[in-house]
Amino acid sequence: MVIVSTGHCFLDICSGRESLRKPIWLMRQAGRYLPEYRELRSRAGGFLEFCYAPALAAEATLQPMRRFDLDAAIVFADILLVPHAMGMNVRFVEGEGPLLDPIASSSGLSRDFSRILDRLSPVFETIERVTHELRGQAPLIGFCGGPWTVATYMLEGKGGTTKEFSRRLAYEKPADLAEILDLLVEASALYLARQVKAGAAAVQIFESWAGGLPPELFHRIVIDPTRRLVARLRELGVTVPIIGFPRGAGMKIADYAAQTGVNVLALDEEAGADGVARLLPASLPVQGNIDPQALVIGGDVLRSAVRTCMDGFHGRPHIVNLGHGIRPEVPPQHVADLISFVRDYS
Ligand code: CP3
Repeated sequence: MVIVSTGHCFLDICSGRESLRKPIWLMRQAGRYLPEYRELRSRAGGFLEFCYAPALAAEATLQPMRRFDLDAAIVFADILLVPHAMGMNVRFVEGEGPLLDPIASSSGLSRDFSRILDRLSPVFETIERVTHELRGQAPLIGFCGGPWTVATYMLEGKGGTTKEFSRRLAYEKPADLAEILDLLVEASALYLARQVKAGAAAVQIFESWAGGLPPELFHRIVIDPTRRLVARLRELGVTVPIIGFPRGAGMKIADYAAQTGVNVLALDEEAGADGVARLLPASLPVQGNIDPQALVIGGDVLRSAVRTCMDGFHGRPHIVNLGHGIRPEVPPQHVADLISFVRDYS
């Protein structure tokens, strides 16, 4: 069988093909570590207004592509646009991160999916603008939050908590949580399908709060909703690669990989290459997982982190990335250094 390259190393690796060039992109590659982002952000007003302004969001998406030799772009948006489009009050407070008026059940949420998509339509316009500007030079990644991660923001009203309220709801009122997750599965599937229609060449599901769950809960509230989201996307005719990022899943990534149907597994910095090799099929593409703190420090620490990562995943389909997003304090030169360490690796 002749396997034809897509012409893009990132997409080739996503579909398990070989590639001479090692693909690299970085979570939060658009963001506050870039002075040009801070300048754009100061003109946008609030963060949500920024996400919903296609000309500005397209510019933010393209900023890191202009500066660095990256192999994929990721659309500038946020996982909390979906609860916002479902009618929740979402605000981003400087220094505090996102704040929502927490809900206790799904009763106040919109089930009017065409209206939800309508409210998200600026994101589709951003994607159209970016794919037009990229002119096929690099693929664009679309994304959404994992249903459980988005649900925790809706239930807790903010990030960074111990997720007590959400986890108790999972035990005490499983049907109530299931209803919220069901709504998020459907809204996220329709949202991602429209992103692909607008030009996204791959999508990533950010399950940032997959950590700390006992296996039974992990299966019920992370794996099962993700499996249904992936199946629904395929039913909607989406054929592009789907990257799953179950951050903090630990050993449970093996079940996540086997049962959700994602094509690529994004790994956090805790996932060691030897552990992954034992847990995951050798043909499954992986993405990650350099420590974001090594990027803050730079120099030999960064060079050695790049080598450990690339040696560790040598011989399997691998997309270089961080284990989590770029920290705002990262000097942009460290990102340029990271990319040249990857290019020089042999
Ligand atoms: O990666 C990219 O460059 C694309 C854009 C992107 C953003 N958020 C922009 C953003 C993506 C993929 C996200 C995903 C996201 N958003 C996640 C999943 C990934 C992760 O980091 O775990 C989560 C949990 C969120 C929710 C969110 N949005 C938080 C917790 C925060 C505040 C924390 C922070 O870093 O400030 C945001 C705000 C946010 N989203 C910023 C950016 C660039 C910073 C806001 C600003 O400019 O003031």
